[in-house]
Amino acid sequence: MRISMLALVLVVCACGPNDPSGRAAGVGALTADTTRGATVYMGQCASCHAADGKGVAAVSGADLTVKVPMFTAQQITLVVLNGEGKMAPMPGMKDQEIADVVAYCKATFK
Ligand code: HEC
Repeated sequence: MRISMLALVLVVCACGPNDPSGRAAGVGALTADTTRGATVYMGQCASCHAADGKGVAAVSGADLTVKVPMFTAQQITLVVLNGEGKMAPMPGMKDQEIADVVAYCKATFK
């Protein structure tokens, strides 16, 4: 009984309400490459977050040098998949691109 409850809790955490498709869990399982991630970042994120992560002047609240250290890799993945506050979701990105860009952010903005 206790073991099945634990298993249930683990399943809910890995694939919970924020990750109904389980996509974030799949992204987290990929091998990421920060060099590829840098390219993805410049193409998909820098228009709002700026090359240095501090955010472009026209977009407020987008300073990744403040936000990324407070977030786990999975939380950043969920922001990209689901959006957060003023940031729109980016469901068109491939799982590998997300894994790479999240690894780049964690390695760069800390
Ligand atoms: C069109 C503009 C735009 C693009 C493109 C964009 N973001 Fe954001 N992002 C924002 C804004 C605005 C916020 C602040 C959201 C808020 O606090 O309301 C934000 C916040 C975040 C946060 C912090 C979320 C929080 O809860 O404070 C993370 C992490 C993030 N973005 C990662 C990324 C990554 C990684 C990419 C590229 C794959 C990306 N963003 C692309 C506009 C953008």
